[in-house]
Amino acid sequence: MSLPNQTPDLEDSINVTEAHGRVVREAAACAREKRIVDNGIEPISLWAFVACGVVLLIAGGILGSGGRLFSYGKVFREGYVRTPAPGAGDTGPVPKEALAAYMAKGSKIYSAKCNGCHGSDAKGNGSTFPSLVGSTWVTGETERFAMIILNGLEGPVSDGKTYGVMPPQGIGMAAEDLAGIMTYVRNNFGNATGDVVTIDMAKAALEISAARKNAGKSATAAELTADHVKALPGDVLDPKALLDPITLAPGKAP
Ligand code: HEC
Repeated sequence: MSLPNQTPDLEDSINVTEAHGRVVREAAACAREKRIVDNGIEPISLWAFVACGVVLLIAGGILGSGGRLFSYGKVFREGYVRTPAPGAGDTGPVPKEALAAYMAKGSKIYSAKCNGCHGSDAKGNGSTFPSLVGSTWVTGETERFAMIILNGLEGPVSDGKTYGVMPPQGIGMAAEDLAGIMTYVRNNFGNATGDVVTIDMAKAALEISAARKNAGKSATAAELTADHVKALPGDVLDPKALLDPITLAPGKAP
């Protein structure tokens, strides 16, 4: 397009009306051209868009009731059952037979408290530590055995020999520890009494020990023979009864 009066008018001042008219014409032309370029690619109205969506959903629902288009029921597999999370069926520790459960506890106490002197095979060393294997003070009356563990021992032992002094092992020992260690030594290393020294029996042992005439002193053969050749009081526990291996309380069958 040719624009008139492109050179500034040097004689007169600029013709404002004409200049303004030119600007308006040019702007109108620009707008026109932009419309031509945008033709057909303008963004569609949001309302039209939403309306289409609604129509599609309803139409889909109607057509889909036959199961052809949108059948939301098909999103989920039929008869699907989730696999239980790992551990969901866990009902706690598997019950163990009483003898095995007590011995498992006792084995730990033995390692911690007796191993150092009587050895890992409980045979002692023949000179300063006696053997616990086949000892009648181990496999015989439980009260005597308990008094040795709780108070230590001085003077001759079951074989008539004196090995030295056994320091008391009962300090801080819980009833279940005592029950465990006694059951373990009576049924391990070649000993096999086949019975369980229960927590109740061990509790009785702790009371008997606390009431000793020689409380605070090591036990001696004389005292053991005079006062403690007895079975600890308490109900006998079937060695095959099922127990919770941790609490040693009666447990259900697995
Ligand atoms: C510090 C070393 C030491 C420790 C620990 C020890 N003992 Fe002894 N034990 C001895 C000595 C020494 C004798 C022998 C004492 C004597 O000659 O009078 C002995 C004797 C015994 C006897 C007597 C054996 C018999 O045939 O008469 C028994 C039972 C016994 N100990 C059990 C145990 C148990 C169970 C433990 C662990 C809870 C234990 N001892 C921890 C050193 C120890």
